[in-house]
Amino acid sequence: MRLFPSSVFQKAFALAAATALLATAATAQQPNLAPTRASHAMVVTIHHDASDAGLAILKQGGNAVDAAVAVGFALAVVYPAAGNLGGGGFLLLRDHNGKAHFLDYREKAPAAATRDMYLDEHGNVVPNLSLVGYKASGVPGTVAGLTYAQKHYGKLTLAQDMAPAIHLASEGYVLSAEEAHLLESKNLTRFPASTKIFQRNGNFYKAGETFKQPELAETLRRIARDPDDFYKGAMAHQIADVEKAGGGLITADDLAHYEVKEREPIRGSYRGYDLITAPPPSSGGIVLVEILNILSGFDLAKLGPDRSAAQVHIITEAFRRAYKDRGDYLGDLDFNTLPLKQMANPKYAAAWRASIDPAKPTPSAALVRPAGFLPPPPAATLVHESTQTTHFSIVDAEGNAVSSTYTLNGGFGSGVTIEGLGFLMNNEMDDFTSKVGVPNTYGLIQSSANAIEPGKRPLSAMTPTILTRNGKLAYVMGTPGGSTIITTVANDILSAIDNGLDIQQVADAPRFHHQYLPDRLDLEKKFPVPPAEELKAMGYTINRLAVADEKNPGVWGDSELIAIDPKTGELLGGHDSRRAFGKASGY
Ligand code: DON
Repeated sequence: MRLFPSSVFQKAFALAAATALLATAATAQQPNLAPTRASHAMVVTIHHDASDAGLAILKQGGNAVDAAVAVGFALAVVYPAAGNLGGGGFLLLRDHNGKAHFLDYREKAPAAATRDMYLDEHGNVVPNLSLVGYKASGVPGTVAGLTYAQKHYGKLTLAQDMAPAIHLASEGYVLSAEEAHLLESKNLTRFPASTKIFQRNGNFYKAGETFKQPELAETLRRIARDPDDFYKGAMAHQIADVEKAGGGLITADDLAHYEVKEREPIRGSYRGYDLITAPPPSSGGIVLVEILNILSGFDLAKLGPDRSAAQVHIITEAFRRAYKDRGDYLGDLDFNTLPLKQMANPKYAAAWRASIDPAKPTPSAALVRPAGFLPPPPAATLVHESTQTTHFSIVDAEGNAVSSTYTLNGGFGSGVTIEGLGFLMNNEMDDFTSKVGVPNTYGLIQSSANAIEPGKRPLSAMTPTILTRNGKLAYVMGTPGGSTIITTVANDILSAIDNGLDIQQVADAPRFHHQYLPDRLDLEKKFPVPPAEELKAMGYTINRLAVADEKNPGVWGDSELIAIDPKTGELLGGHDSRRAFGKASGY
């Protein structure tokens, strides 16, 4: 069931790198949608069947974690571009008593991984080796993450939480035109097991057809019966056999040693709100805090309305500065000492703030980090980030909140389906740094803190975030979008808090992004022309199309958001209408 007819949404629709794209034109006119309102609970995801799966679990007496588990498994069925069993992610839970738990179920480099595994004998990066095929995968964490969440924080059984996903896989779900088109991805055509399942061996699925996945249904049933099967049982050996036959590195031993980590979330505050957000191996939380700390010294609302040139300039300069630090310092906390405290220091933010020229951009090449706050950075390297991930936000009737972002990395991950088990594997190894000093297509800088090492988790930008005010739940936020994730979450916070947009307007606001290098201001196609012209006149290099995705038709991200009305306690869902098949489901 759709919340809105898709005809309303013939407009911007981004699908990701390595993914077949639906080239619907972006129109300047956004439908002016209202938030979805509910008095008890709310589930917002990119897929209506997944949102309804979460809602059904809540109505059965499950809590937000049960609903998140149901949604996570359901998205693996109905949104195979990013929903997954063969990937990884993060889940942030804030329970109704205010206690926060951050589950890191990010992929790990296999034991046989080496620092130079994507270089040829001359030391050059082998194109696509970290992106396509068996060698691109890290040890998947999703099944561990979701089953851990259910076991430790859920109220229902795993079988109950997984029932909707099993049903969707065995009975199928009806494909929209957009979804059918997505499945035509070339990434899937490369691998026979993927072509067979997702492309019916070349007889591509069409809009209105029911897509059933019996192998995946059986895999899900096996996990529901025994979650250890995936990591320590017969299933682990099946996965390892397929990996070995394809030349991959993941062994049964790697799977047996996968572990979910509970980490201390990053915390910050902004204009009376408290933030709970993603710690390393995500760069998201700390960079978000740094951005907001810099901006806390400006009265943004006074500068102009949402997306006015004056606001965008100041916000962009904060992005530029925080992304410089992201590139220079961040990696897996288990393998590095990271200067997180120093990066979150308000005095450091004040020093950065003082370097912002109110009238014009600071060229990235001329940007000098304020002295005396951070240690010298490790050697810099350059890598890119690719694009296909998904976020969901849930609040239950007790006030427990879950914000989770998980991913295969690129659209349909490595393209490899585990034969016999019916699920796709990630290409998360590409989030590591492949080679020192080699600029890639997108030129995003990261440090050697993110070099490949066995057992290490690659640096992520995923930023599931929860905001509270005076101890009360206020917002649940997050988005996909590779390197644009952090700026999108920051912009969503600013649009809500500084500019007073309602949560649906927040999700749909035109996006802008700057990541220090390349030194350009990326604007979505629908970003209004007058402020873009003003920004250009100020000295910005404007790029309307590019983000870390050469096929992007002019939009990025997918904010799936919940706000809580502070006066009435009503839940307000904001589903990103860039995607026609998503939904905010509440009751
Ligand atoms: O972990 C990360 O930051 C990336 N693997 C996420 C990729 C992504 O968000 C793509 N989304 N559209």
